[in-house]
Amino acid sequence: MSEQKSSVDNAIAALNDLKVEIEETALSTSQGVDDYRIRFLSRKQGQITALLKRIPEVAPEDRKKFGQEINAAKARVVARIEEATGELSDESDASSGQVDLTLPGRAMAQGSLHPITQAQRLITRVFENYGFEVAEGPEIEDDWHNFSALNFPPDHPARDMQDTFFIEPPGEEHGGILLRTHTSPVQIRIMENREPPIRVIVPGRVYRNEAISYKSYCLFHQVEGLYVDEGVTMADLKQILHAFARTLFGEDVKMRFRPSFFPFTEPSAEVDIWWKDDALPGGGRWMEIMGTGMVDPNVLEGVGIDSERYTGYAFGMGIERIAMLRYGIDDIRILYENDNRFLKQFS
Ligand code: PHE
Repeated sequence: MSEQKSSVDNAIAALNDLKVEIEETALSTSQGVDDYRIRFLSRKQGQITALLKRIPEVAPEDRKKFGQEINAAKARVVARIEEATGELSDESDASSGQVDLTLPGRAMAQGSLHPITQAQRLITRVFENYGFEVAEGPEIEDDWHNFSALNFPPDHPARDMQDTFFIEPPGEEHGGILLRTHTSPVQIRIMENREPPIRVIVPGRVYRNEAISYKSYCLFHQVEGLYVDEGVTMADLKQILHAFARTLFGEDVKMRFRPSFFPFTEPSAEVDIWWKDDALPGGGRWMEIMGTGMVDPNVLEGVGIDSERYTGYAFGMGIERIAMLRYGIDDIRILYENDNRFLKQFS
């Protein structure tokens, strides 16, 4: 390459660098604006002048364009100086005006944690105190983790228990990509990657394609718990859930296990607490707060855990449900409306 050519390139590169500097230099103080003016526009040492001096380096046929571009760059410098000067003088007008120091201060609006976040933190903290660690998993799942590995057989009606949002429908290559319908797939992800003892608590968002009403929404939050070790029994499960219910709903809370069914636990139960309400006949009613059970040996074997040696329990609860009970909210939809009048009550 000739001397001539690389020098041309240098002049053009210098112009391009200059344009970037012209745009990016911050002009937030009047001292800054003065420096900027001198740096670019000073007739003696300014960078625009310096560049004009390099016109002879450029090939004759390109000189006109090169010169025009320098002029355009110069115009930008002038425009930016004008703009910044205008802004700075507006500011100083405002601050040099009469200030009434006796005026009361402006109250600062204070934000607060959303009731779902508050309930989620409360729930996870209870289990952290018992030695559970917090884990998370993806909201976009595959069929394997959300269903198959959890012992839902391909055509089992249990799959219909959960109306699923599919991102990719089941096909030949995979059984479908979907928005997880519960946090239980995280059980699988953890057991696939770790050896017992495993003791985790998994908060997260889940999705179901349900009709929206006061009691169900298309997305909600769950907290999953999983404990796998040698000698874990149903008695351990009852003990920890009772401790949990006492922390959330008071020392005298009444709790019961009701036989139920989930494909991934055996036996399975639903947990109810007694909700006192004098307006109701009988002084209250049982409210379901979670699903639970002993991890099905099939699930353990499926992720390579020896079900002769290890047993485990799992549970899953809806955070909205718990928040609604604790805070006396009777319509789930209000949790998703971001109405300040509602949210302000939780600060
Ligand atoms: N995943 C179940 C649901 O969403 C809840 C559950 C979790 C049940 C763990 C048993 C064990 O309904």
